[in-house]
Amino acid sequence: MGLWGGVFREPTDDDLRKLNDSLPFDQRMYRQDIEGSIAYAQAIRDAGVLTAQECLKITQALKQIRKEFDEGTFVFAAGDEDIHTAVERRLIELVGAIGGKLHTGRSRNDQVATDLRLWAMDACADLQKLLANFQHALVEKAEAHVETLMVGYTHVQPAQPVTVAHWLMSYFWMVQRDRQRLYEARRRMSVLPLGSGALAGTPLNINRAQLAKNLGFTGVSENSLDAVSDRDFVADMLYVLTLLGAHLSRLAEDFIWFSSPSFSFVRLHDRYSTGSSLMPQKRNADPMELARGKVGRLIGNLVAVLAMLKGLPTGYNKDLQEDKEALFDAVDQMQQLLPVLTAVVRTLAVNEEALLRALSEEMLATDVADYLVTKGMPFREAHHVVGRLVRLAQERGVMLSALPLADYQALSPLFAQDVYAVFDFMQSVRQRAVQGGTAPEAVQAQLVAAREQLHNELGFV
Ligand code: ARG
Repeated sequence: MGLWGGVFREPTDDDLRKLNDSLPFDQRMYRQDIEGSIAYAQAIRDAGVLTAQECLKITQALKQIRKEFDEGTFVFAAGDEDIHTAVERRLIELVGAIGGKLHTGRSRNDQVATDLRLWAMDACADLQKLLANFQHALVEKAEAHVETLMVGYTHVQPAQPVTVAHWLMSYFWMVQRDRQRLYEARRRMSVLPLGSGALAGTPLNINRAQLAKNLGFTGVSENSLDAVSDRDFVADMLYVLTLLGAHLSRLAEDFIWFSSPSFSFVRLHDRYSTGSSLMPQKRNADPMELARGKVGRLIGNLVAVLAMLKGLPTGYNKDLQEDKEALFDAVDQMQQLLPVLTAVVRTLAVNEEALLRALSEEMLATDVADYLVTKGMPFREAHHVVGRLVRLAQERGVMLSALPLADYQALSPLFAQDVYAVFDFMQSVRQRAVQGGTAPEAVQAQLVAAREQLHNELGFV
């Protein structure tokens, strides 16, 4: 007896079966499916559909099925269309006809919506931990480089000196927001669809609030038609992971060119670099290129789900089966990537000399303008004067500090001997001690704030 065989005279075409079956990819939800079924068995026992004895038998059999999956001994049968039918088929094998009572008042529509939410909630919690580890690595690396100077860029043009700690911590905060978004996405998806039936609800007097509690949901859906087709949580989570991917791709891009021999600012550990099959000297930052490249498929998964949801008619439609592979793939990619990126950061070598060598006095031009401002010149005017000074030095092919005072004074009488004291990169950095600035003391405060946020598992203080 198949799932819905009664009305048909002929079996389903084999090619359609292959197209229709979701078992190859949804079997990974077996734990959630079994957990949902155990809770549902209790709910329908309390509603008088199962006797206590039947419920016990069914629950024990479900636990055994879970064990078979855990141990890899579960055997799929030819007719298993998806994880839900596979578990139910095995249940009936184990307990006989009473196993067929479990599906009373339930549809695979509310079942799959419940399973996927449970799966996604677990995945969010796991990813939050992976993100916290990654952030921890960033904090530790930053703590070692609060006073390490480097070029700060805008438009990939040298702009002003900053510290390595400040640069690394910029990624901490991006990921902090991602971690918070994951937490919030998880909270939003914590709504129980079970009890919605196929679309209209169930005539059984089940206690949905209790069912929600038993399964770890904080709320119960308000509309059964909405509940069976609501995949907002999938789109939500995919967006969060895509934005995370975008952040990681920025970090990756920085690491890729900073580790190129043309810069040599950082060096990836041997364990996290790869060679070339042809050029013996090559040391490629493959993990970072993969991090940068993964975003394409993350965006693709998000767009696939949004496009699948668009114009979907009311209620459950099979289109919705397309939700899982997109979500699973995005989570898999991140679960693979994050531990590697964490290790890359942990083992990263920072080349302080190369970083210093890349600094040039022109990056202190703003500081020279600020000097004039302290002597009373409006900033706009000072900007212009220093621009001319920079041009003069460039024309002569010398550093700004090599221009004699007479040249300075020819551009503004406000210049005095003390202007040469401006050409100190560390001093420039120290002056930017505003909250959120690159000065070591400000970065120390930033690190304290970061550690505080990290101590909170949820991502919030
Ligand atoms: N395997 C389906 C899915 O992943 C669940 C089954 C619901 N299908 C149905 N024809 N009612 O969405």
